[in-house]
Amino acid sequence: MKKLFLFVIVMTLSLTGLQAQKKNVPSADGKAPQGISSVAAEKVIKLPMPEVGLDGEFRTALKNRATTRDLKSEELPMEIISSLLWSAYGFNRPEEQKRVVPSAINVQEFDIYVFLEQGIYLYDAQRNTLNNVVEGDHRAEISKQKHFAVAPFSIVIVANYDRMTKFKNTEDRDFYAAVDCGYVSQEIYLFCAMNDLGTVACGGIDRDILKKLLKIKNGKAMLAHPVGRR
Ligand SMILES: Cc1cc2nc3c(=O)[nH]c(=O)nc-3n(C[C@H](O)[C@H](O)[C@H](O)COP(=O)(O)O)c2cc1C
Repeated sequence: MKKLFLFVIVMTLSLTGLQAQKKNVPSADGKAPQGISSVAAEKVIKLPMPEVGLDGEFRTALKNRATTRDLKSEELPMEIISSLLWSAYGFNRPEEQKRVVPSAINVQEFDIYVFLEQGIYLYDAQRNTLNNVVEGDHRAEISKQKHFAVAPFSIVIVANYDRMTKFKNTEDRDFYAAVDCGYVSQEIYLFCAMNDLGTVACGGIDRDILKKLLKIKNGKAMLAHPVGRR
């Protein structure tokens, strides 16, 4: 009876370990899955298939992330615009005034403009509003690239240098503005990937026109994203 009990314990422990090893997570005894330390000295480490931690919607978002230039002009509901803006630059921890995206030394330097048919709007993430700054349709002025004339709306990400005075020189400031902007852009891509929308990150935009249109005094239009059904 004692032997049977011991046998059951040993089998349970080794099966748990085996399962953990398969999933590449620590086993019940807290040890690292076999393989990580034993292959560390190899010149080439053959990785397991990228499956662990990539279940469900996270995998779908990453699998579908892509640039789409062929956008439809069909109007999109405000609900979609609201969720997209929150994903790109909303507050996910409002009690700490912190956003979905990180920023170097938490400067939160971006002004996010939405170009709609009826005008240009500034996103206020705190109040969840779009505030009109310019009237009329200026979507095609963002860039000569054809997707801007077609997309129902476009987002323009503007770095406001007044919020970046903590950086010791303009080289650092410009570097971090570009890095921070990448996070916003990727959120837009991922939201689109999850919602059957198309978008393209565009660096080829008309910054002089945007500077005048948006009255940018101390800052730079970094990237624009036309968004539409694909
Ligand atoms: C910073 C940046 C600027 C880009 N600028 C443009 C652009 O002005 N016009 C354009 O059509 N695509 C632009 N792209 C999209 C790239 O061409 C695209 O990401 C690349 O071809 C890879 O395709 P994928 O996004 O589907 O992986 C830009 C991408 C990045 C990251």
